[in-house]
Amino acid sequence: MSTVLALSGSPSGTSRTVAAVRGALDLLADRGYQVRHVAVRDLPAAELLAADTRHPQISGVLTEVAQADGVIIATPIYKASYTGVIKALLDVLPQHGLRGKAVLPLATGGTLAHLLAVDYALRPVLAALGARHVVSGTFLLDSAFVSGPAEPGHPPLRYGLAPDAELRLTDAIAEFAAALPAPSLDDEVAALTNR
Ligand SMILES: Cc1cc2nc3c(=O)[nH]c(=O)nc-3n(C[C@H](O)[C@H](O)[C@H](O)COP(=O)(O)O)c2cc1C
Repeated sequence: MSTVLALSGSPSGTSRTVAAVRGALDLLADRGYQVRHVAVRDLPAAELLAADTRHPQISGVLTEVAQADGVIIATPIYKASYTGVIKALLDVLPQHGLRGKAVLPLATGGTLAHLLAVDYALRPVLAALGARHVVSGTFLLDSAFVSGPAEPGHPPLRYGLAPDAELRLTDAIAEFAAALPAPSLDDEVAALTNR
């Protein structure tokens, strides 16, 4: 079994970053990978800020990271960097918590001016966590997303990916999959028959 865990760090309940993660994980599931997503905002905040790694939900995520073959680190760009939300979780990973894993950085942002934030801000953190196989990062602008239905005066309930963003994500996933152990034949067949 080849497994991929996505960690997303938007504080938003209607997150474009989560829409990108869902798109990425759907593509991986279609290839036969076992996929899971943890939105850091759903973890117990006080315990996370206190680095309480004995809390069952937090220790559960740490175990999932340890067992994953590949990890997607997804974050909106805030103030020209990754969010504090994703960093709070990265900070409780063991010193070499990403060693031996393929890692796909995924970022969303409002301006192309911060396109390189993945490289100058996130990559050094991933390297410090022992990640040596970090594939090309994907940066998706807000314009790469389409809105779901919204009540007047409220944000959309959910975002989807515009077609060109889907194409870019497909390319990124192909590169990421090449860095992952191949799924078992059984998992590939199950993915094909579930389509
Ligand atoms: C507090 C805050 C700070 C932001 N700072 C930046 C920034 O420095 N550069 C940028 O490109 N976008 C910035 N943005 C825009 C978000 O990165 C962008 O809208 C992103 O798609 C939001 O992702 P989400 O819907 O998953 O939260 C900021 C947004 C917020 C709310």
